[in-house]
Amino acid sequence: MNKTVSSLSAPLRRFLASLPFAALGIGVALAGGRPPAESRLQAPLGLGYPAWLAYRPVNPALVFGANGDIPDTIVVLGRGHLEQSAARELALGWQGMLNRVLRVVESPSPGAAELVRGTLVVATQTELRAWRPELAAGPSLGPDAYRLHRAGSLLLIEGGDTRGALYGAFALLRGVAEGHSLRALDETSQPWTVVRWTNEWDNPNGTIERGYAGSSIFFEGGHVRSDLSRAAAYARLLASVGIDGCVINNVNADPRLLLPENLAQIARIAGVFRPYGVRLGLAIDMNSPQSVGGLSTFDPLDPGVAAWWRDKMDEIYRLIPDFGGVVVKADSEGQPGPSQYGRSQADAANLIARALAPHGGVVLYRAFVYNHHLDWRNPKADRAKAAYDVFHSLDGKFDPNVIVQIKYGPIDFQVREPVSPLFAGLPHTNEAIELEITQEYTGQQLHLVYLAPMWKLSLDTDMRASVHGAPLLVRDLIRGHTIGPQHHTLGGFVGVANVGTGRWLGNPLALANLYAFGRLAWNPALSAAAISDEWTRLTFGNNVQVHAVVDKLQMDSWRIYESYTGPLGLGTLTDILGPHFGPNPQSAERNGWGQWIRADHEGVGMDRTVATGTGYIGQYPAPLAAEYESLKTCPDDLLLFMHHVPYNYHLHNGETVIQYIYNSHYWGAQAAAVQIPAWESLHGKVPDATYAEVLKRFEFQAGHAIVWRDAITKWFARKSGIVDNLHRVGHYPGRIEAEDMTLDGYSPVDVTPWETASGRKAVECVGRAQCSVSLRWDKPDGWYDIAVQYFDLNNGASHYTLEVDGHAIDAWDADMNLPDYRMNGNTSTRQTVHNVALHRGDELLLLGRPDGREPAPVDYIQITPSPASAALHSLNQSR
Ligand code: GCU
Repeated sequence: MNKTVSSLSAPLRRFLASLPFAALGIGVALAGGRPPAESRLQAPLGLGYPAWLAYRPVNPALVFGANGDIPDTIVVLGRGHLEQSAARELALGWQGMLNRVLRVVESPSPGAAELVRGTLVVATQTELRAWRPELAAGPSLGPDAYRLHRAGSLLLIEGGDTRGALYGAFALLRGVAEGHSLRALDETSQPWTVVRWTNEWDNPNGTIERGYAGSSIFFEGGHVRSDLSRAAAYARLLASVGIDGCVINNVNADPRLLLPENLAQIARIAGVFRPYGVRLGLAIDMNSPQSVGGLSTFDPLDPGVAAWWRDKMDEIYRLIPDFGGVVVKADSEGQPGPSQYGRSQADAANLIARALAPHGGVVLYRAFVYNHHLDWRNPKADRAKAAYDVFHSLDGKFDPNVIVQIKYGPIDFQVREPVSPLFAGLPHTNEAIELEITQEYTGQQLHLVYLAPMWKLSLDTDMRASVHGAPLLVRDLIRGHTIGPQHHTLGGFVGVANVGTGRWLGNPLALANLYAFGRLAWNPALSAAAISDEWTRLTFGNNVQVHAVVDKLQMDSWRIYESYTGPLGLGTLTDILGPHFGPNPQSAERNGWGQWIRADHEGVGMDRTVATGTGYIGQYPAPLAAEYESLKTCPDDLLLFMHHVPYNYHLHNGETVIQYIYNSHYWGAQAAAVQIPAWESLHGKVPDATYAEVLKRFEFQAGHAIVWRDAITKWFARKSGIVDNLHRVGHYPGRIEAEDMTLDGYSPVDVTPWETASGRKAVECVGRAQCSVSLRWDKPDGWYDIAVQYFDLNNGASHYTLEVDGHAIDAWDADMNLPDYRMNGNTSTRQTVHNVALHRGDELLLLGRPDGREPAPVDYIQITPSPASAALHSLNQSR
């Protein structure tokens, strides 16, 4: 009875027909003839850049044993879209990895004859129980959980619910991709927290705040995009790592998105998320009742305001029945908030929560509330204290569907911060940790920084707040295991992702961060190294050398970046008033933003002690506070976050602070350079386009690390008046300032801040079609590397040509689209030509052709013996 053996179900057939398989490099045979007619009318769903869902061929013997049967049939017990997505995905994965086309069996009888060979079964636990109870005899599965197990020739993907079944399918595919044996498979898994969301800071005009990979996949020109295929593909990526919610707009929210005509469009996005179980969320502006609702107030305690929010939420749920909820940024960086009416953040949060509660929605209320007009002259003022100061006293006053969303550190996504003390300060409140996937302060996807090791440090911090003395990690607190009497069930992970049209995050290796966010939100006990290894195998296949190299690059990357941008807990010493990219330590000081490093002629660091400083350390539970308060026990990595010390203060390893700053920057720049040959060793072993994209970024990073190194070390040398005992700072062998060369058309110009140009000056070509700098080589003949340091502004694409004795040896355009139109640390860039033969008397000429408003600026040229030639030289000497 009711056995239906179609080769493929109609929805599955439609899906497969719509895929751009050529882009994935795989082919699919559509068994059973032509796809149904309507499939040709559908807009292709598209998969976009496949990221880690590459489904590269795998040796089946590893997975199913030498003589094992590869399942070639799939039974889907449910009719819902999530289980259908699971089936589609399995079909896709089977095709790509195992070169098999799965037959679909719908609604089979329990003993159907076609199940004798290997069969995949996708079902919820309830469906499985109804079909063949003996197969679902395991413990009950909760929401989103799954169990993967075998029963004879059946391979079962059993979900606690339909979303769990989809997550189980992705987990199984992950196992296949990694070449794990499935012969004795029995794995049960459930997510760590209920809320696992990304926040996307997209604006309706299509730009993305702090986005570094193209434009929005959701909006363009003030509207929702007509083509949402990328949004659909993104939901698939998110689901593959268990992310179940996505807030699609900037936390600095445009209230017009709540207008009926826009909500109707936003519902289309929810529609493409739905097959992947991703709930749509919105960032809202507390002022909306006034700005788009026409009320005279947005006072959270005003009944009219409450009614407006209720109506608005009802309207949203009519359009989007599975709407997840909202994120709120209030009283922060100029955003309106309840303080305007003398109300608390809890009043505001509960106002929205009550409008959402009847529908099951949640409020992610951000603890990022602080005054950005702090008085920098006041030694007790401290931005780091703000979140705890505002929220701790509100503990217990939030409605059950409010989750306080806390950035991992107390400042703002810096390269290293201590974990926010607020995690231990809200024992009666739901908490979520906010992590930043987009690399705002960590190199903007042009520097490699695998963030999982940093996140792990926060998640694994023991807050020492447990009454019984047992460890109480941040990851436990956000799960809902709290210090107080109540046991909360809501909690979460939020990752600010900011993906764009440029292959999600631009840098192919940066996708490891999105992947790691999802995996940690599912299971924060996983190690950063294990996640990196998974990601590498899924993305690049199981080549041993590729793993070894990529994993090492990823795992070393955060340390490397930290060492040349902000060691010892200083925070990222970037231009905090600009795009947060290049070096500008002075910008942190003497303003109201409160990212002060308090560097003077004698010492450096924020004194946050209870004894003499701002008292911030006192916000931690006593044992942790004691560790940070004492110079003896405060870890060096956080020293200058917690203490102000003299430059000659000795760290635990015996080095002075100032010498450590110098050494760390030199080590970091060298380590950044070594990434290039490491990556080059993978030429031919990773896809060519990926190879080239990544290489270009490593080359940029190596040059920019030198910009950072020189700027920060010179700045501190000047501040402290203490010389580098290795005599590197201020001494740059082989460097020739552009302003000291023979100039034709170029004229010298001062650069601000001074430390971001060598010798404080550059040269620019103004009013001429082309200018040049030149010099005559008066050193020994030999092989040399020639580095040209120039500024790549974002208001033109100047063209440069480097010539030796009239022969062009390199030519390039300054078109990297770096985030500034001025010459400074954001735009200083390096082009290096290796192994150039120079003879005494040769003329070296650099031609610059300005473009747009970019005057082909040049900082210096540095000529150093090529490593091989230096080795030869020392060999000759030793003969
Ligand atoms: C950072 C970021 C802002 C963002 C803010 C936030 O400060 O630079 O662009 O709006 O964080 O998290 O709200």
